[in-house]
Amino acid sequence: MSKDYSTYFVKPSLRDARKRKRDDTPTLDFNDYMNIEGIGKNKTYTIETYGCQGNVADSEKIAGILEALEFTRSATLDDADLILLNTCAVRANAENRVFGELGRLKQYKNNNPDLILGVCGCMPQEEHVVNKILAKYHYVDLVFGTHNIHRLPTYLETVLLSKERVIEVFSEEGSIVENMPKLRDNAKKAWVNIMYGCDEFCTYCIVPYTRGKERSRSPEHILAEVDELIAQGYHEITLLGQNVNSYGNDFTDRTYRFKDLLADLHTKPITRVRFTTSHPKDFDTETIAILARGGNLMPYIHLPVQSGNDRVLKRMNRKYTRQEYLELVAEIHRQIPGVSLTTDIIVGFPGETDEQFEDTLSLVERCNFEGAFTFIYSKREGTPAAQYDDDVPIAVKKARLQRLNTLVNAGYKRGNKRFEGHTVKVLVDGTSKNDDTVLAGYSEHNKLVNFTGPADLIGHIVTVKITEAKTWYLWGEYHG
Ligand code: 5AD
Ligand code: SF4
Repeated sequence: MSKDYSTYFVKPSLRDARKRKRDDTPTLDFNDYMNIEGIGKNKTYTIETYGCQGNVADSEKIAGILEALEFTRSATLDDADLILLNTCAVRANAENRVFGELGRLKQYKNNNPDLILGVCGCMPQEEHVVNKILAKYHYVDLVFGTHNIHRLPTYLETVLLSKERVIEVFSEEGSIVENMPKLRDNAKKAWVNIMYGCDEFCTYCIVPYTRGKERSRSPEHILAEVDELIAQGYHEITLLGQNVNSYGNDFTDRTYRFKDLLADLHTKPITRVRFTTSHPKDFDTETIAILARGGNLMPYIHLPVQSGNDRVLKRMNRKYTRQEYLELVAEIHRQIPGVSLTTDIIVGFPGETDEQFEDTLSLVERCNFEGAFTFIYSKREGTPAAQYDDDVPIAVKKARLQRLNTLVNAGYKRGNKRFEGHTVKVLVDGTSKNDDTVLAGYSEHNKLVNFTGPADLIGHIVTVKITEAKTWYLWGEYHG
């Protein structure tokens, strides 16, 4: 690929992505970037989304932009004029899946030379990914990253009208772009970004590089978005950030923080407020006290611990100790009785010994988690831990994961069991995946509930009496 093949050719740099300047974050207005109209007329698109809720929320923005450009969503891949893969870089297997999919999509390009194939999201923020696309996937037409979604109209103009390939990835710290259109996937549950980026630099994690510096949206913008969602009849919002507990730490002109946002949302007529993800080091007692007010603040907290051993936590740069985590969990349980806690755990971090892993197991036993996402450590090029010796044999990593999962699954079951015989409120999402006479939705404690009932309950919050707890879900009877 020669440089002059494309108008835009800006490659990523993980070294630049690491830098953090003190400058204020610029807030941009998407309307200034909506510089071409109707370019998608008679064209269809599809987006495949990988990874976390941040990517899901970004895909809703990308879909919103495409629809504003008059693209329509395509029912199948065969019909699509534009296919975008919104990718995740957090572990190697997420990346391998995307490369596998790109290989598979080559046939669609062969069948339809006018098809535009694009890759966006976290993977393009990594040099090695862009180099690999340039070397092996020359049929990819469009590559952009997490910082420049708002420039999509311009990119499409170049690709569609000038028939040039676009590769543009910014590694600078990122801005905040307001007024992006959104095509939300769900009519009752909405994602609300409250901040972007991450400044934690956990040593294993690529996110601070792919998503840039931590920057908080103004409370005015967030609350206005929530008001709009309320007016549209939404029941539930989930506040999104890599570390929601540090919301506002970057404000230079005000002292408004996460607890203030929760307090403001507590008074709003929205039925359910959730948030993810929390960082234990920034979860203060004032925030717990606000959550203890209950009401629309849901009794469910996802609190990643990653490891139960101090030495490993230190080498992960998590900035809390096992004891501090245990005390935080105890305080949360004390102030919010009945709260449901889940976590994230990594096994096989470089240098993790059997004894250190046992500390993770014992912490899981003590914390009464009702669920966990568990991962085998995956080396990410450019992160500090990539310099550590990845010395735990894969067979040991797998055995640890299995032992951990057995314990975690018992927690899921125990967490469900406590609702047997109780009535719970369920926001009905739709029919169960396996049986369309069965309705499915989530309770306030974020438990999946299945029950039989009329389809017109979908989108409503209903009362269900729980009759039986399974490991992964609850069975119940519709109560009204
Ligand atoms: N290897 C394995 N798991 C990881 N996570 C983040 N980076 C890595 C990695 N390099 C996990 C953490 C985090 C979750 C979103 O993904 O547990 O909380
Ligand atoms: Fe990654 Fe740590 Fe930031 Fe979470 S807090 S996104 S694990 S660096």
